[in-house]
Amino acid sequence: KKYVPEPFRIKMVETIKMTTSEERDVAIKKAHYNLFNLASEDCYIDLLTDSGTNAMSHNQWAGIMRGDEAYGGSSSFYKLVNTAKNMFNYDYIQPVHQGRAAEKVLFPLLLEKGKVAISNMFFDTTRAHVELAGARAIDCVVEEAKDPSDRKKFKGNMDVKKLEEAILEHGPEKVGLVVMTVTNNSAGGQPVSIENMQAVAAICRKYHIHLNIDAARQAENAYFIKRDEEAYKDHSIKEIVRLMFETGDTFTMSAKKDGIVNMGGLLGVKDEEKFSELIFKIKANTISFEGFISYGGLSGRDMESLAIGLEEALEEDYLDYRVGQMEYLASLLDDVGIKYQSPVGGHGVFIDAKAMFPHIPYNEFPGQVLAIELYKEAGIRTCDIGSYMLGNDPDTKEQLEADFEFTRLAIPRRVYTQAHLDIMAEALIAIQKRAATIKQGYKITWEPPILRHFQAHLEPL
Ligand code: F0G
Repeated sequence: KKYVPEPFRIKMVETIKMTTSEERDVAIKKAHYNLFNLASEDCYIDLLTDSGTNAMSHNQWAGIMRGDEAYGGSSSFYKLVNTAKNMFNYDYIQPVHQGRAAEKVLFPLLLEKGKVAISNMFFDTTRAHVELAGARAIDCVVEEAKDPSDRKKFKGNMDVKKLEEAILEHGPEKVGLVVMTVTNNSAGGQPVSIENMQAVAAICRKYHIHLNIDAARQAENAYFIKRDEEAYKDHSIKEIVRLMFETGDTFTMSAKKDGIVNMGGLLGVKDEEKFSELIFKIKANTISFEGFISYGGLSGRDMESLAIGLEEALEEDYLDYRVGQMEYLASLLDDVGIKYQSPVGGHGVFIDAKAMFPHIPYNEFPGQVLAIELYKEAGIRTCDIGSYMLGNDPDTKEQLEADFEFTRLAIPRRVYTQAHLDIMAEALIAIQKRAATIKQGYKITWEPPILRHFQAHLEPL
Protein backbone atom coordinates (compact mmCIF):
# COMPACT_ATOMS: atom_id res chain seq x y z
CA LYS A 1 0.00 0.00 0.00
CA LYS A 2 1.35 3.38 -1.02
CA TYR A 3 1.68 6.04 1.65
CA VAL A 4 -0.98 8.75 1.28
CA PRO A 5 0.96 12.03 1.37
CA GLU A 6 0.21 14.57 4.06
CA PRO A 7 -2.36 17.19 2.97
CA PHE A 8 -0.46 19.75 5.06
CA ARG A 9 3.06 20.99 5.62
CA ILE A 10 4.91 21.45 8.90
CA LYS A 11 5.18 24.90 10.45
CA MET A 12 6.44 24.12 13.93
CA VAL A 13 8.51 21.21 15.23
CA GLU A 14 9.06 19.58 18.59
CA THR A 15 12.41 17.89 19.29
CA ILE A 16 12.28 14.33 20.58
CA LYS A 17 15.02 12.72 22.62
CA MET A 18 16.85 9.64 21.40
CA THR A 19 17.58 7.08 24.13
CA THR A 20 19.87 4.07 24.37
CA SER A 21 18.76 0.53 25.05
CA GLU A 22 20.48 0.66 28.48
CA GLU A 23 18.63 3.87 29.40
CA ARG A 24 15.33 2.31 28.40
CA ASP A 25 15.95 -0.83 30.48
CA VAL A 26 16.47 1.36 33.54
CA ALA A 27 13.46 3.59 32.78
CA ILE A 28 10.98 0.74 32.30
CA LYS A 29 12.09 -0.98 35.50
CA LYS A 30 11.74 2.28 37.41
CA ALA A 31 8.23 2.64 35.91
CA HIS A 32 7.31 -0.78 37.42
CA TYR A 33 6.88 -2.11 33.86
CA ASN A 34 3.83 0.12 33.46
CA LEU A 35 4.21 2.33 30.39
CA PHE A 36 1.81 4.93 31.79
CA ASN A 37 4.47 5.64 34.43
CA LEU A 38 7.21 6.52 31.92
CA ALA A 39 8.25 10.13 31.45
CA SER A 40 7.35 11.21 27.92
CA GLU A 41 10.95 12.46 27.57
CA ASP A 42 12.07 8.84 27.75
CA CYS A 43 9.86 7.86 24.79
CA TYR A 44 11.06 8.30 21.24
CA ILE A 45 7.74 7.60 19.52
CA ASP A 46 4.75 7.95 21.81
CA LEU A 47 1.82 5.79 20.73
CA LEU A 48 0.27 5.43 24.18
CA THR A 49 -2.86 7.07 22.86
CA ASP A 50 -4.31 9.17 20.05
CA SER A 51 -6.20 11.10 22.73
CA GLY A 52 -5.19 14.72 23.28
CA THR A 53 -1.89 14.07 21.52
CA ASN A 54 -2.89 15.60 18.20
CA ALA A 55 -1.21 18.48 16.35
CA MET A 56 -3.44 21.51 15.92
CA SER A 57 -3.55 23.50 12.69
CA HIS A 58 -2.49 27.13 12.29
CA ASN A 59 -6.18 28.03 12.17
CA GLN A 60 -6.74 26.32 15.51
CA TRP A 61 -3.77 28.15 17.01
CA ALA A 62 -5.16 31.41 15.70
CA GLY A 63 -8.40 30.43 17.47
CA ILE A 64 -6.44 30.04 20.71
CA MET A 65 -5.67 33.77 20.54
CA ARG A 66 -9.30 34.61 19.75
CA GLY A 67 -10.69 32.59 22.68
CA ASP A 68 -13.15 34.56 24.80
CA GLU A 69 -12.51 33.78 28.48
CA ALA A 70 -15.78 35.16 29.88
CA TYR A 71 -17.33 33.03 32.64
CA GLY A 72 -20.82 33.39 31.20
CA GLY A 73 -21.84 33.27 27.54
CA SER A 74 -18.44 33.61 25.89
CA SER A 75 -18.35 33.93 22.12
CA SER A 76 -16.16 30.81 21.95
CA PHE A 77 -18.89 28.86 23.76
CA TYR A 78 -21.48 29.99 21.22
CA LYS A 79 -19.16 29.19 18.35
CA LEU A 80 -18.59 25.66 19.65
CA VAL A 81 -22.24 25.00 20.45
CA ASN A 82 -23.46 26.30 17.10
CA THR A 83 -20.85 24.29 15.19
CA ALA A 84 -21.79 21.10 17.03
CA LYS A 85 -25.56 21.66 16.82
CA ASN A 86 -25.30 22.12 13.10
CA MET A 87 -22.85 19.25 12.55
CA PHE A 88 -24.77 16.64 14.55
CA ASN A 89 -28.27 18.11 14.24
CA TYR A 90 -28.80 18.02 18.00
CA ASP A 91 -30.80 20.57 20.01
CA TYR A 92 -28.65 20.74 23.11
CA ILE A 93 -24.84 20.73 23.36
CA GLN A 94 -22.95 20.79 26.66
CA PRO A 95 -19.18 21.31 26.59
CA VAL A 96 -17.26 19.31 29.22
CA HIS A 97 -13.56 18.91 29.81
CA GLN A 98 -13.20 15.42 28.31
CA GLY A 99 -15.11 12.27 27.41
CA ARG A 100 -15.29 10.69 30.84
CA ALA A 101 -16.64 13.97 32.22
CA ALA A 102 -19.60 13.61 29.86
CA GLU A 103 -20.02 10.05 31.14
CA LYS A 104 -19.82 11.19 34.74
CA VAL A 105 -22.49 13.83 34.13
CA LEU A 106 -24.87 11.62 32.13
CA PHE A 107 -24.60 8.01 33.28
CA PRO A 108 -25.81 8.42 36.89
CA LEU A 109 -28.96 10.06 35.47
CA LEU A 110 -29.80 6.84 33.59
CA LEU A 111 -28.19 4.06 35.65
CA GLU A 112 -28.32 2.82 39.23
CA LYS A 113 -27.72 -0.36 41.21
CA GLY A 114 -29.58 -3.31 39.69
CA LYS A 115 -29.49 -1.86 36.18
CA VAL A 116 -27.34 -2.89 33.25
CA ALA A 117 -25.87 -1.00 30.32
CA ILE A 118 -25.21 -2.75 27.01
CA SER A 119 -22.72 -1.70 24.35
CA ASN A 120 -21.09 -3.00 21.20
CA MET A 121 -18.04 -2.57 23.42
CA PHE A 122 -17.36 -0.28 26.35
CA PHE A 123 -14.10 1.59 26.50
CA ASP A 124 -12.36 1.15 29.87
CA THR A 125 -13.33 4.51 31.41
CA THR A 126 -16.84 4.18 30.04
CA ARG A 127 -17.19 0.76 31.65
CA ALA A 128 -15.84 2.28 34.87
CA HIS A 129 -18.53 5.00 34.86
CA VAL A 130 -21.23 2.39 34.37
CA GLU A 131 -19.86 0.56 37.41
CA LEU A 132 -19.42 3.77 39.44
CA ALA A 133 -23.12 4.48 38.81
CA GLY A 134 -23.81 1.09 40.45
CA ALA A 135 -24.76 -0.74 37.25
CA ARG A 136 -23.12 -3.55 35.29
CA ALA A 137 -21.70 -3.35 31.77
CA ILE A 138 -22.34 -5.93 29.03
CA ASP A 139 -20.54 -6.08 25.66
CA CYS A 140 -22.38 -7.49 22.61
CA VAL A 141 -19.91 -6.99 19.78
CA VAL A 142 -20.26 -9.14 16.64
CA GLU A 143 -18.47 -12.48 16.84
CA GLU A 144 -16.05 -11.74 13.96
CA ALA A 145 -14.49 -8.93 16.02
CA LYS A 146 -12.93 -11.62 18.19
CA ASP A 147 -10.99 -13.14 15.29
CA PRO A 148 -8.20 -10.72 14.30
CA SER A 149 -7.63 -12.51 10.98
CA ASP A 150 -11.29 -12.29 9.86
CA ARG A 151 -11.26 -9.38 7.38
CA LYS A 152 -15.01 -8.70 7.44
CA LYS A 153 -16.04 -5.05 7.19
CA PHE A 154 -17.60 -3.23 10.15
CA LYS A 155 -16.23 -5.49 12.85
CA GLY A 156 -17.17 -2.81 15.39
CA ASN A 157 -20.88 -3.57 15.00
CA MET A 158 -23.29 -4.58 17.73
CA ASP A 159 -24.52 -8.16 17.47
CA VAL A 160 -28.21 -7.19 17.36
CA LYS A 161 -29.38 -10.70 18.13
CA LYS A 162 -27.24 -10.83 21.26
CA LEU A 163 -28.42 -7.34 22.19
CA GLU A 164 -32.06 -8.34 22.04
CA GLU A 165 -31.37 -11.55 23.97
CA ALA A 166 -29.57 -9.57 26.67
CA ILE A 167 -32.47 -7.11 26.91
CA LEU A 168 -34.98 -9.95 27.30
CA GLU A 169 -32.77 -11.83 29.76
CA HIS A 170 -32.43 -8.85 32.11
CA GLY A 171 -35.86 -7.37 31.33
CA PRO A 172 -36.17 -4.14 29.30
CA GLU A 173 -36.94 -2.08 32.43
CA LYS A 174 -33.56 -3.12 33.89
CA VAL A 175 -31.61 -1.89 30.86
CA GLY A 176 -30.85 1.74 31.66
CA LEU A 177 -28.77 2.44 28.65
CA VAL A 178 -27.46 1.16 25.34
CA VAL A 179 -24.16 2.67 24.16
CA MET A 180 -22.95 2.57 20.55
CA THR A 181 -19.21 3.20 20.52
CA VAL A 182 -18.04 4.62 17.16
CA THR A 183 -15.50 3.60 16.18
CA ASN A 184 -15.24 0.59 18.44
CA ASN A 185 -11.95 1.42 20.16
CA SER A 186 -11.46 -1.71 22.26
CA ALA A 187 -12.13 -3.98 19.26
CA GLY A 188 -9.38 -2.22 17.31
CA GLY A 189 -10.84 1.08 16.12
CA GLN A 190 -13.27 -0.95 14.05
CA PRO A 191 -16.11 0.96 12.41
CA VAL A 192 -19.85 0.58 12.92
CA SER A 193 -22.18 0.73 9.90
CA ILE A 194 -25.20 3.02 9.54
CA GLU A 195 -27.28 -0.11 8.97
CA ASN A 196 -26.15 -1.46 12.35
CA MET A 197 -26.71 1.85 14.14
CA GLN A 198 -30.23 2.02 12.72
CA ALA A 199 -30.98 -1.58 13.67
CA VAL A 200 -29.86 -0.93 17.25
CA ALA A 201 -31.94 2.26 17.37
CA ALA A 202 -35.01 0.29 16.25
CA ILE A 203 -34.51 -2.23 19.07
CA CYS A 204 -34.08 0.58 21.60
CA ARG A 205 -37.31 2.19 20.38
CA LYS A 206 -39.15 -1.13 20.62
CA TYR A 207 -38.15 -1.60 24.27
CA HIS A 208 -38.09 2.12 25.22
CA ILE A 209 -34.39 2.09 26.09
CA HIS A 210 -32.17 5.18 26.01
CA LEU A 211 -29.53 5.07 23.26
CA ASN A 212 -26.28 6.98 23.75
CA ILE A 213 -23.57 7.28 21.10
CA ASP A 214 -19.99 7.24 22.41
CA ALA A 215 -18.75 9.43 19.59
CA ALA A 216 -15.02 9.76 20.30
CA ARG A 217 -13.98 8.81 16.76
CA GLN A 218 -17.04 9.76 14.79
CA ALA A 219 -15.14 11.31 11.85
CA GLU A 220 -13.08 8.17 11.25
CA ASN A 221 -16.25 6.10 11.52
CA ALA A 222 -17.98 8.26 8.89
CA TYR A 223 -15.00 7.80 6.57
CA PHE A 224 -15.30 3.99 6.75
CA ILE A 225 -19.03 4.21 6.06
CA LYS A 226 -18.43 6.26 2.93
CA ARG A 227 -15.69 3.88 1.78
CA ASP A 228 -17.27 0.54 2.65
CA GLU A 229 -21.05 0.84 3.06
CA GLU A 230 -22.45 0.65 -0.45
CA ALA A 231 -25.62 2.68 0.22
CA TYR A 232 -23.65 5.73 1.40
CA LYS A 233 -20.74 5.91 -1.03
CA ASP A 234 -22.17 9.00 -2.74
CA HIS A 235 -23.03 10.80 0.51
CA SER A 236 -20.74 13.49 1.85
CA ILE A 237 -18.92 12.83 5.14
CA LYS A 238 -21.07 15.56 6.71
CA GLU A 239 -24.29 13.88 5.59
CA ILE A 240 -23.07 10.55 6.95
CA VAL A 241 -22.23 12.13 10.31
CA ARG A 242 -25.78 13.45 10.58
CA LEU A 243 -27.23 10.03 9.72
CA MET A 244 -25.04 8.38 12.37
CA PHE A 245 -26.07 10.84 15.08
CA GLU A 246 -29.74 10.66 14.15
CA THR A 247 -29.84 7.14 15.60
CA GLY A 248 -29.02 8.32 19.17
CA ASP A 249 -30.98 10.06 21.91
CA THR A 250 -27.79 11.52 23.34
CA PHE A 251 -24.08 11.42 22.63
CA THR A 252 -21.01 11.62 24.84
CA MET A 253 -17.81 12.60 23.07
CA SER A 254 -14.18 12.73 23.98
CA ALA A 255 -13.17 15.58 21.67
CA LYS A 256 -9.50 14.76 22.32
CA LYS A 257 -9.64 12.38 19.37
CA ASP A 258 -11.61 13.56 16.32
CA GLY A 259 -11.89 17.09 17.70
CA ILE A 260 -8.13 17.26 16.93
CA VAL A 261 -7.45 19.16 20.15
CA ASN A 262 -5.51 18.44 23.31
CA MET A 263 -8.44 18.73 25.71
CA GLY A 264 -12.22 18.81 25.37
CA GLY A 265 -15.46 16.90 25.40
CA LEU A 266 -19.11 17.26 24.50
CA LEU A 267 -22.45 15.92 25.64
CA GLY A 268 -25.37 16.26 23.22
CA VAL A 269 -29.13 15.76 23.51
CA LYS A 270 -31.04 15.36 20.27
CA ASP A 271 -34.55 16.40 21.28
CA GLU A 272 -34.82 19.32 23.65
CA GLU A 273 -38.58 18.92 24.20
CA LYS A 274 -38.61 15.18 24.84
CA PHE A 275 -35.61 15.34 27.19
CA SER A 276 -36.21 18.69 28.93
CA GLU A 277 -36.03 17.01 32.35
CA LEU A 278 -32.76 15.26 31.45
CA ILE A 279 -31.20 18.50 30.16
CA PHE A 280 -32.15 20.21 33.42
CA LYS A 281 -30.26 17.50 35.34
CA ILE A 282 -27.31 17.56 32.92
CA LYS A 283 -26.94 21.28 33.59
CA ALA A 284 -27.06 20.73 37.35
CA ASN A 285 -24.43 17.96 37.23
CA THR A 286 -22.22 20.00 34.91
CA ILE A 287 -22.27 22.98 37.26
CA SER A 288 -21.36 20.71 40.20
CA PHE A 289 -18.62 18.69 38.50
CA GLU A 290 -17.29 20.70 35.56
CA GLY A 291 -18.07 24.37 35.96
CA PHE A 292 -20.73 26.72 34.66
CA ILE A 293 -22.64 25.44 31.61
CA SER A 294 -21.07 27.96 29.25
CA TYR A 295 -17.58 26.54 29.72
CA GLY A 296 -17.90 23.06 31.26
CA GLY A 297 -14.31 22.77 32.46
CA LEU A 298 -12.79 24.27 29.31
CA SER A 299 -11.06 27.57 28.69
CA GLY A 300 -12.59 29.81 26.06
CA ARG A 301 -9.56 29.15 23.84
CA ASP A 302 -10.12 25.38 24.14
CA MET A 303 -13.70 25.78 22.94
CA GLU A 304 -12.59 28.00 20.05
CA SER A 305 -9.95 25.53 18.80
CA LEU A 306 -12.35 22.60 19.23
CA ALA A 307 -14.99 24.31 17.08
CA ILE A 308 -12.37 24.56 14.31
CA GLY A 309 -10.98 21.04 14.84
CA LEU A 310 -14.40 19.40 14.56
CA GLU A 311 -14.71 20.82 11.04
CA GLU A 312 -11.14 19.95 10.00
CA ALA A 313 -11.63 16.32 11.03
CA LEU A 314 -14.40 15.91 8.45
CA GLU A 315 -12.27 17.00 5.47
CA GLU A 316 -11.92 14.09 3.06
CA ASP A 317 -8.28 14.69 2.13
CA TYR A 318 -7.41 14.66 5.80
CA LEU A 319 -9.35 11.43 6.43
CA ASP A 320 -7.75 9.74 3.38
CA TYR A 321 -4.33 10.56 4.80
CA ARG A 322 -5.33 9.67 8.35
CA VAL A 323 -6.71 6.19 7.64
CA GLY A 324 -4.01 5.84 4.96
CA GLN A 325 -1.35 5.90 7.69
CA MET A 326 -2.95 2.90 9.41
CA GLU A 327 -3.20 1.06 6.10
CA TYR A 328 0.42 1.77 5.25
CA LEU A 329 1.67 0.42 8.59
CA ALA A 330 -0.64 -2.59 8.34
CA SER A 331 0.66 -3.38 4.86
CA LEU A 332 4.26 -3.48 6.15
CA LEU A 333 3.09 -6.04 8.73
CA ASP A 334 1.23 -8.07 6.10
CA ASP A 335 4.49 -8.37 4.17
CA VAL A 336 6.09 -10.29 7.06
CA GLY A 337 3.03 -12.05 8.47
CA ILE A 338 2.67 -10.12 11.73
CA LYS A 339 -0.95 -10.48 12.86
CA TYR A 340 -3.13 -7.53 13.87
CA GLN A 341 -6.84 -6.75 14.12
CA SER A 342 -7.74 -6.72 10.44
CA PRO A 343 -8.87 -4.98 8.35
CA VAL A 344 -7.01 -2.19 10.09
CA GLY A 345 -9.14 0.34 12.01
CA GLY A 346 -9.17 4.12 12.17
CA HIS A 347 -6.86 5.29 14.93
CA GLY A 348 -4.20 2.68 15.34
CA VAL A 349 -2.87 -0.75 14.59
CA PHE A 350 -3.76 -3.34 17.21
CA ILE A 351 -1.12 -6.07 17.13
CA ASP A 352 -2.32 -9.57 17.99
CA ALA A 353 0.06 -10.29 20.87
CA LYS A 354 -1.59 -13.67 21.48
CA ALA A 355 -0.44 -14.71 18.01
CA MET A 356 3.07 -13.37 18.59
CA PHE A 357 3.42 -15.01 22.04
CA PRO A 358 1.16 -18.08 21.88
CA HIS A 359 3.03 -19.61 24.83
CA ILE A 360 2.22 -16.74 27.24
CA PRO A 361 -1.18 -17.13 28.99
CA TYR A 362 -3.73 -14.29 29.38
CA ASN A 363 -2.95 -13.87 33.08
CA GLU A 364 0.67 -13.10 32.22
CA PHE A 365 -0.56 -10.34 29.88
CA PRO A 366 0.85 -10.95 26.36
CA GLY A 367 -0.31 -7.48 25.22
CA GLN A 368 1.71 -5.89 28.00
CA VAL A 369 4.70 -8.13 27.15
CA LEU A 370 4.77 -6.80 23.59
CA ALA A 371 4.27 -3.21 24.79
CA ILE A 372 7.32 -3.54 27.05
CA GLU A 373 9.38 -5.15 24.28
CA LEU A 374 8.50 -2.34 21.86
CA TYR A 375 9.69 0.17 24.38
CA LYS A 376 12.93 -1.69 25.03
CA GLU A 377 13.53 -2.26 21.32
CA ALA A 378 12.98 1.23 19.95
CA GLY A 379 11.64 3.59 22.62
CA ILE A 380 8.11 3.19 21.27
CA ARG A 381 5.43 3.60 23.94
CA THR A 382 2.18 1.67 23.36
CA CYS A 383 -0.43 0.08 25.62
CA ASP A 384 -2.13 -3.22 26.31
CA ILE A 385 -5.72 -3.64 25.19
CA GLY A 386 -6.33 -7.07 26.63
CA SER A 387 -6.67 -8.87 29.94
CA TYR A 388 -4.28 -6.47 31.65
CA MET A 389 -6.54 -3.54 30.75
CA LEU A 390 -9.79 -5.44 31.36
CA GLY A 391 -8.90 -6.11 35.00
CA ASN A 392 -10.84 -8.07 37.60
CA ASP A 393 -14.48 -9.02 37.87
CA PRO A 394 -16.09 -6.29 40.04
CA ASP A 395 -18.02 -8.92 42.01
CA THR A 396 -15.65 -11.89 42.36
CA LYS A 397 -12.36 -9.91 42.00
CA GLU A 398 -11.01 -12.68 39.73
CA GLN A 399 -8.80 -11.72 36.78
CA LEU A 400 -11.02 -11.66 33.68
CA GLU A 401 -9.89 -13.13 30.37
CA ALA A 402 -10.30 -10.68 27.50
CA ASP A 403 -11.54 -11.76 24.08
CA PHE A 404 -8.23 -10.63 22.64
CA GLU A 405 -4.74 -9.66 23.72
CA PHE A 406 -3.78 -6.61 21.70
CA THR A 407 -0.89 -4.19 21.88
CA ARG A 408 -2.23 -0.91 20.56
CA LEU A 409 -0.12 1.37 18.44
CA ALA A 410 -2.41 4.41 18.64
CA ILE A 411 -1.36 7.00 16.08
CA PRO A 412 -1.76 10.66 17.10
CA ARG A 413 -3.31 12.87 14.41
CA ARG A 414 -0.97 14.85 12.12
CA VAL A 415 2.05 14.09 14.34
CA TYR A 416 4.25 11.31 12.93
CA THR A 417 5.66 10.82 9.43
CA GLN A 418 6.16 7.89 7.08
CA ALA A 419 9.69 7.38 8.47
CA HIS A 420 8.27 7.00 11.99
CA LEU A 421 5.83 4.39 10.70
CA ASP A 422 8.76 2.50 9.13
CA ILE A 423 10.55 2.46 12.50
CA MET A 424 7.43 0.99 14.15
CA ALA A 425 7.33 -1.82 11.59
CA GLU A 426 11.07 -2.51 11.93
CA ALA A 427 10.79 -2.78 15.72
CA LEU A 428 7.87 -5.20 15.46
CA ILE A 429 9.78 -7.33 12.97
CA ALA A 430 12.80 -7.50 15.29
CA ILE A 431 10.60 -8.60 18.20
CA GLN A 432 8.75 -11.15 16.07
CA LYS A 433 12.13 -12.74 15.27
CA ARG A 434 13.03 -13.27 18.93
CA ALA A 435 9.48 -13.89 20.20
CA ALA A 436 10.11 -17.54 21.13
CA THR A 437 12.98 -16.53 23.42
CA ILE A 438 10.62 -14.41 25.54
CA LYS A 439 9.32 -17.25 27.69
CA GLN A 440 7.20 -15.62 30.37
CA GLY A 441 5.04 -12.60 31.01
CA TYR A 442 4.42 -10.39 34.03
CA LYS A 443 2.66 -10.53 37.37
CA ILE A 444 0.96 -7.64 39.11
CA THR A 445 2.54 -6.73 42.45
CA TRP A 446 0.19 -3.84 43.31
CA GLU A 447 -3.11 -2.62 41.85
CA PRO A 448 -5.86 -0.13 42.72
CA PRO A 449 -9.48 -1.42 42.72
CA ILE A 450 -10.71 0.32 39.55
CA LEU A 451 -8.98 1.21 36.23
CA ARG A 452 -5.95 -0.60 37.54
CA HIS A 453 -3.94 -0.65 34.31
CA PHE A 454 -3.14 3.07 34.58
CA GLN A 455 -1.37 2.69 37.90
CA ALA A 456 -0.55 -0.96 38.62
CA HIS A 457 2.99 -2.18 39.32
CA LEU A 458 4.29 -5.24 37.47
CA GLU A 459 7.27 -7.53 37.69
CA PRO A 460 8.68 -9.98 35.15
CA LEU A 461 8.01 -13.62 36.02
N1 F0G B 1 -14.92 6.61 24.87
C1 F0G B 1 -14.00 6.07 24.05
C2 F0G B 1 -14.42 5.18 22.93
C3 F0G B 1 -12.65 6.36 24.28
O1 F0G B 1 -11.74 5.82 23.47
C4 F0G B 1 -12.30 7.20 25.35
C5 F0G B 1 -10.90 7.52 25.63
C6 F0G B 1 -13.30 7.73 26.16
C7 F0G B 1 -14.61 7.41 25.88
C8 F0G B 1 -13.00 8.64 27.32
O2 F0G B 1 -12.60 9.87 26.87
O3 F0G B 1 -10.25 10.13 27.70
O4 F0G B 1 -11.58 12.10 26.93
O5 F0G B 1 -12.12 10.97 29.06
N2 F0G B 1 -9.95 6.91 25.11
C9 F0G B 1 -8.53 7.21 25.22
C10 F0G B 1 -7.74 6.13 24.57
C11 F0G B 1 -8.07 7.57 26.58
O6 F0G B 1 -6.52 6.13 24.75
O7 F0G B 1 -8.29 5.32 23.83
P1 F0G B 1 -11.57 10.81 27.70
